[in-house]
Amino acid sequence: MANLEHLLQEIKIKSMLLKNRVVMPPMGTGLGQRDGTVSEATLAYFKRRVKSGAGLYITEISSVHTQGSVSPSALRIYDDSYITGLSQLVKIAHKEDAKIAIQLHHAGRESFYQLKRGEAMAPSAIASYVFGGSPKAMRREDIEEVIQAFGSAARRAVEAGFDAVELHAAHGYLLHQFLSIHSNQREDEYGGNMQNRARFILECIQAVRAQVGQDFPISLRISAEEVIKNGYSIEEMQEIAPKFVKAGVDIIHASFGTHGSPGGIIQAPIEYAQGFNVHLARKIKEKVEIPVIGVGRFTDPVIMNEVIKRGDADLIAVGRQHLADPDFLNNAIAGHPERTFQCLACNQGCIERLIYEGKSVRCAINPETGQELYYPSQPAAEKRQVWIIGGGPAGLTAAAEAARLGHQVTLLEKEKQLGGQVIIAAQAPYKGAYADWIDQLKDRALRYGARIKTGIEVSESMIVEGKPEVLILASGAKQIIPSLEGIEMPSVIDAWSILKGEKAVGKNVVVVGGGLTGMETADYLIQHGVKSLVLVDQLPKSPINPLTAHGNMLNYRLKKAKGQFMFNTQLSRIKQNSVELIQDGQNHLLSPVDQVVIAIGAQAQNSLEPFLAQSGIDYYVVGDAAEPRRIIEAVEEGARAAWNISG
Ligand SMILES: Cc1cc2nc3c(=O)[nH]c(=O)nc-3n(C[C@H](O)[C@H](O)[C@H](O)COP(=O)(O)O)c2cc1C
Repeated sequence: MANLEHLLQEIKIKSMLLKNRVVMPPMGTGLGQRDGTVSEATLAYFKRRVKSGAGLYITEISSVHTQGSVSPSALRIYDDSYITGLSQLVKIAHKEDAKIAIQLHHAGRESFYQLKRGEAMAPSAIASYVFGGSPKAMRREDIEEVIQAFGSAARRAVEAGFDAVELHAAHGYLLHQFLSIHSNQREDEYGGNMQNRARFILECIQAVRAQVGQDFPISLRISAEEVIKNGYSIEEMQEIAPKFVKAGVDIIHASFGTHGSPGGIIQAPIEYAQGFNVHLARKIKEKVEIPVIGVGRFTDPVIMNEVIKRGDADLIAVGRQHLADPDFLNNAIAGHPERTFQCLACNQGCIERLIYEGKSVRCAINPETGQELYYPSQPAAEKRQVWIIGGGPAGLTAAAEAARLGHQVTLLEKEKQLGGQVIIAAQAPYKGAYADWIDQLKDRALRYGARIKTGIEVSESMIVEGKPEVLILASGAKQIIPSLEGIEMPSVIDAWSILKGEKAVGKNVVVVGGGLTGMETADYLIQHGVKSLVLVDQLPKSPINPLTAHGNMLNYRLKKAKGQFMFNTQLSRIKQNSVELIQDGQNHLLSPVDQVVIAIGAQAQNSLEPFLAQSGIDYYVVGDAAEPRRIIEAVEEGARAAWNISG
């Protein structure tokens, strides 16, 4: 077993004794009822999370005020009627010998829901970074009302049995909006210099302290650094932090960033190393005598242990890893760290699904997350003989899940290597961890007893002979190559072959297709020394949202390398040393071009489906074999197919 002695050390904070230094930070789930109460789905989700063995769990944002809810399904604590529901979360945590805090929250201007209702309020009437619409500037009586609301919410938290409360003064929400010049241009004592802008937070802390008594722990979540142009610095925060302590805070939770910070840094993408921002916690610790929580991309308990040992932070918040694989700590303690699926920081199922799709939380690589109510934990009543065709993410997930449920599973993969497109995508810069995940998925399937054979292309007659009772077709997709003049020229190559390293990278390259494959291939080309790169797409802009964490990094690197984007543009002809393009109806000749990389998309590869449809075999078509999409859909459909066999 790895030495985790520092991470597993107890810590006492006022009346709260934590069994170790691991914290699950607040994470909105979107699983609550539409009236902001705790749902069965919230409870099931939380029951699974508390199995991680962390010392402290902090609930998702819970609104202290009617105008403070970020969305209808976000939890609320602004009325006594919410106490009973919330206390169920407390019982779940206490049953696992863990402590639980509730995060007290007011969205201010950062709520599409409140802006739409015309109810959003903020220090000044300045538009939201993310949603545009303007809030109402808070009057003195609004300020007083919200301060009192924080106090009353804290009183309810005590009544519900919580062990602590956390005030959310980070990430661009109301308390942070007071602190930031980007949202606070008040001319009264709540605006102006940093000291004045901190006044609202200080008064909220005091109101909370007045309600909870001296021995009840209060945590304050701050953005230690604002991470936005002209935002406040860590040095400014260092000056203000001791004042928060004086006002009554017992823990500082040192997060970072705000709405509008470039590339969603709060949920940092895979480009960032574990604990990349823990120096912020250290800087806060230099100025205060109370425990400080560090956060950011932590997945490995050994690294967390090092951070505690070094004294950079007293506790470590582990967010998305709790979604990707809540067994990370138990696996490490049991001496099986290799079993832990490390969070890939893709944000597909968690924060970006919540924000950009308005849906509840999931995880791209953990199909159980957010679906705990449907997740079968018991072996299937009837064991079936299952064939899975294709060993990409959908097929491997189906294999692991079906085998876990006790079915007799054989997975057959045409290629020598497992992983399908993921293995190819893993060649793109920073994405090596995706290949590790495929290896682990394979190991998990084998551990549960699945048989895996590679280099076997399944034919109809093999199915007839093999007589599987259930067949899951997860045969993936193949690339689309357009038919146009010059496509046969040696300078033309498909994106997957480039990523597989099958052909040397050219000097002057055109990438056709601005989706994820096109952008990541362009990223790869830049890393491999391409001199000039033009990315062409017929859409008006890249489908890769530049506000997303990974999308931002891709856009940033392409621009930094002086990559040129040409949208509304079609490739019409490929010539010896040039290409002809049509942009907005105008002809263009691009020259010199010595390599044309085709990345216009993929189409389902499911030629066995018509046979299966009339074979009488119980079958499912999943992942890209149904329709080319992302990892999250592949994993979910693979898992669902396996779960349905048992259903
Ligand atoms: C789905 C999701 C929801 C989040 N909701 C909250 C929240 O309600 N309150 C909060 O302070 N932070 C929230 N965060 C930020 C996390 O608490 C954490 O700071 C962030 O995920 C970085 O930690 P990690 O790299 O370990 O995931 C959320 C993050 C995610 C992924």
